[in-house]
Amino acid sequence: MIRQKIVAGNWKMNGSKESIVSLVSGLLKMKDSNSEVVIAPSFPYLSQVCDLVDASSLVLAAQNISHEVKGAYTGEVSASMLGDFGVKYVLLGHSERRSIYGETDAIVASKVKTALEFRLTPMLCIGETLEERQSNQTLAVCERQLQAVIALVGIESFEKMVVAYEPVWAIGTGLSASAEQAQEVHESIRAFLAKSSESVSQKVQILYGGSVKASTSSALFQMPDVDGALVGGASLDAEEFIAIIKAAG
Ligand code: PGA
Repeated sequence: MIRQKIVAGNWKMNGSKESIVSLVSGLLKMKDSNSEVVIAPSFPYLSQVCDLVDASSLVLAAQNISHEVKGAYTGEVSASMLGDFGVKYVLLGHSERRSIYGETDAIVASKVKTALEFRLTPMLCIGETLEERQSNQTLAVCERQLQAVIALVGIESFEKMVVAYEPVWAIGTGLSASAEQAQEVHESIRAFLAKSSESVSQKVQILYGGSVKASTSSALFQMPDVDGALVGGASLDAEEFIAIIKAAG
């Protein structure tokens, strides 16, 4: 099964009106790619970036949503609001949301459900901490995080989702998983999904995230179960991000 690669830039809580103009104009100089190229700015800049990328092939993502649909939830952003800004994807279950903001598997699953109801494509982030890896819990953790979502929305919904395997120990640390380590986990994730549906497991794109750089990305992209990358720090530099996109082919 040929799966299109996705290269997504998670800008996290970075950028200003000015810096975003220069980052996006840098990205717009890029030649068309066979991969889908996605950028995830902070909420206040979605409207600006939506205008800047109009008529280009760049695709917009948001970094979070509320699991609630609307109402008295001060400080939250709803899935339907994102539809107004041409947002296609939403990152859910990012390890920073899980660890800093206490998002449990159940909360993440309910956000996935809400996203799907509003036709956003969840990029479901999963992954183990260093401690969990060292105690051989990597697969158990990934499976638990996936199972919470499968239990709520069903395996068929994974056809409308993307999974991002992001080992917590590799995020923002400069310590990327090797291509072989990433492949090993991606293959196991696919095998786990296949227990519920073989055909869904073959279709779902599984991205790797965690200190992806241009220099390490080609080895990653050669792995049969690595269908792209979720890039944090390196996506804030247009040249570096474009080099990663080129490596994806
Ligand atoms: P990083 O972040 O590339 O800066 O490690 C990845 C992520 O958190 O998605």
